[in-house]
Amino acid sequence: MADIAGYVADLLAVQLQERRDSVLGMTTGTTPLTTGIYIEWARRVHQKELDLSRARFVNPDEFIGLPQNHPESYRSYMNKHLFNNIDVPLEHILFPNVEAQDLKAECERFDTVVQSWGGIDWQLLGLGQNGHICFIEPNDAIPSSSYIVNVAEENRILYAADFGSLADVPTQAVTTGLRMLMCARKIVLVAVGTKKAGVVARIVLNPVSTRLPGTFLQLHHNAVMILDEESAEGL
Ligand code: GLP
Repeated sequence: MADIAGYVADLLAVQLQERRDSVLGMTTGTTPLTTGIYIEWARRVHQKELDLSRARFVNPDEFIGLPQNHPESYRSYMNKHLFNNIDVPLEHILFPNVEAQDLKAECERFDTVVQSWGGIDWQLLGLGQNGHICFIEPNDAIPSSSYIVNVAEENRILYAADFGSLADVPTQAVTTGLRMLMCARKIVLVAVGTKKAGVVARIVLNPVSTRLPGTFLQLHHNAVMILDEESAEGL
């Protein structure tokens, strides 16, 4: 796993050499933790091997119904695992504000801010076992702009342990739509472990479909997948 974290950090370093004030799309979930991705970034920042001081950070999704400081909010996750450890100024961090009164207007605001920052330069992605990326869940159609999504029941069941019970898992989230993702100038998707073998094979080998959002990465001009042997088993 250290190899994966090191490789992702090397790719990020190349990006930051090209543009110190890069706009970085972030991801949550267990993958950055089991691989040690954010720990490695913080380690390199402290060793002065990685300069994130001018980078801006965009989190493309957040659960609806949790206060920002809820331990399971993605905001808390990012604070705990990255932002607090590398001293990121607040104005360099962007999340959908799920506490806004008007969430549809908030989705528009979020997209507008990302656009005003010049879009995403470098997007780190995980992959849900049902093929979701960010919180773009499988559906008959997928909006291009940010939107309010119903969290797939199979994912709610997966998250139940973290939340204590299924009833406590939010039913909705705000997520970026496909446009922000497909306009990212580089995408780095990381998937590890046997649990991901099936979905990795499906998103690589199946035709592009909104029923399997990860398949859209087949259309991206500059996307890489970083896999371990287990997750690559089906290829
Ligand atoms: C979460 C996040 C995604 C993440 C995915 C995979 O729901 N919304 O951004 O990539 O699930 O998570 P994991 O790495 O735990 O499998």
